[in-house]
Amino acid sequence: MELISRMMDGSIPYDPEGRLEPVSSGPGYNQADKIERLREVSMFETCSQRQLRSVARIARVFDVAAGTRLTRAGEPGDEFFLIIDGTVRAEVSADKHVQLHPGEFFGEMSLLDGGPRSATVIADTPARLLVISRRHFSGLLKDVPGLTETLLATLSRRVRQAEEQVERLGRPSTGL
Ligand code: CMP
Repeated sequence: MELISRMMDGSIPYDPEGRLEPVSSGPGYNQADKIERLREVSMFETCSQRQLRSVARIARVFDVAAGTRLTRAGEPGDEFFLIIDGTVRAEVSADKHVQLHPGEFFGEMSLLDGGPRSATVIADTPARLLVISRRHFSGLLKDVPGLTETLLATLSRRVRQAEEQVERLGRPSTGL
């Protein structure tokens, strides 16, 4: 099971130095603060207050330390991640690492097709992440206008890039 899943279901304790602090799930955590954080994310710009309240109900916000592994290629995955702050890298292959920045997301592929994680994703810097579990993912798609289209466009771009890379690798070297 992935680290975040185990943090979310409480089966592992958080980092003893408090670096992996689940800022959304502490007792008495203020829902209004969480909605303010959601407002900072461009994807939620067009959400009404009611829609933001629904997202805040199903989302958790986690602060993770640089170097935290968030997904591991080949393992099953049950969470969708949106980067609120910080940078992560998706290790798509040995020679292809893609950096993802605030406003971008990852983890959608396993949720959409039920297959294993396609890449290992690691926090390059301390990062703040919005995490939605598989059982709430369809609710998120309903609550956030345009999210389905954004997901499709992102997936198309990732497929296109993967195909270009396969083509480049298959092309004989020109020696340049
Ligand atoms: P998933 O396969 O669930 O888990 C690993 C994630 O890495 C994957 O979803 C995508 O969100 C992300 N990912 C995979 N390939 C790429 C890519 N080429 N560029 C950016 N992100 C990617």
